[in-house]
Amino acid sequence: MSLSKKLSLVLAGLSIVPFIAVAQMSSGIEDNSLADLEARLSDERTLFNVTVDEAPDDDLLELGRLVAMGGAENGGSGMACITCHGAAGAGEGSGAFPRLTGLPGWYSYKQLNDYASGARPNEIMSGVAQRLTDREREAVSAYYAAMRAPHIPSIGEVDQALLQWGGQLAAVGSAERGIPACVNCHGAQGTGNPPSVPYLAGQYADYMVYQLELWKDGVRDNDAMNVMSAIAEKMSSEDMRAVSEYYARVANPLTEPE
Ligand code: HEC
Ligand code: HEC
Repeated sequence: MSLSKKLSLVLAGLSIVPFIAVAQMSSGIEDNSLADLEARLSDERTLFNVTVDEAPDDDLLELGRLVAMGGAENGGSGMACITCHGAAGAGEGSGAFPRLTGLPGWYSYKQLNDYASGARPNEIMSGVAQRLTDREREAVSAYYAAMRAPHIPSIGEVDQALLQWGGQLAAVGSAERGIPACVNCHGAQGTGNPPSVPYLAGQYADYMVYQLELWKDGVRDNDAMNVMSAIAEKMSSEDMRAVSEYYARVANPLTEPE
């Protein structure tokens, strides 16, 4: 999609007929009417705060949707999440922007706080997060947690042996190298472990490789007790590529339309 088209989408999101205009142009959003989202409020994924064991209310979802469309209080069209993360949060296929659809609300909320504080530095997201109010961070996190969107299959040929190695790292890790199995924390099928552990299944490979490198280089420094940095330090570039390509090809039914 061209930038001008994206911008007009953003503007449409701010006009009187926000949802309809966007809905017709995007895949997956038809499963995300406000009623659909509300029906998912009791899901543990939508909790944005581990200390509050209460589902967010529908006002919060409305605010989340507004923020996603670019209507944050201190925002502007450059702040519309949908411009980069896609209409239903599923990204646009390149792998430069992570999939947000169905990420645990608490996890996303934490990431926004970490971007804002600099514990997870990123030129784009730090600026975006700093301008969101605390309530907007909660709202947009709960909103994406309740969203569903189809899995965008990974494109590009990958060597079968590499995928097999990735599958092995995911399931059992490598005792020899001291790499734990990803399934220990990210769930048996890589579908995550709310509230704090994100899914890997269906996330973009390039994005995951990049995050593992950032941890290894000590740039992303925001995980509790340094679990991920300790793991990434033990991984070679080939390991990172293998496990990421593997998970990018695993479907994630929990974040896809029912
Ligand atoms: C101009 C493009 C752009 C816009 C607009 C944008 N993002 Fe992002 N977002 C990114 C990029 C790039 C990354 C990956 C950054 C990194 O490597 O840490 C990202 C990462 C994230 C992550 C981390 C996901 C994960 O799996 O850890 C969250 C959460 C997020 N964005 C939420 C938002 C929200 C909410 C908005 C709207 C208020 C938004 N983004 C607007 C580009 C954008
Ligand atoms: C001991 C638990 C644990 C194990 C084992 C583990 N992870 Fe993680 N992982 C986490 C946690 C917790 C986070 C979220 C960190 C944060 O809060 O930013 C995470 C985040 C990630 C992310 C970032 C996802 C995103 O959306 O930004 C990637 C990629 C990742 N892990 C890959 C792996 C891989 C590959 C393995 C196996 C080799 C693995 N992890 C094993 C706990 C674990």
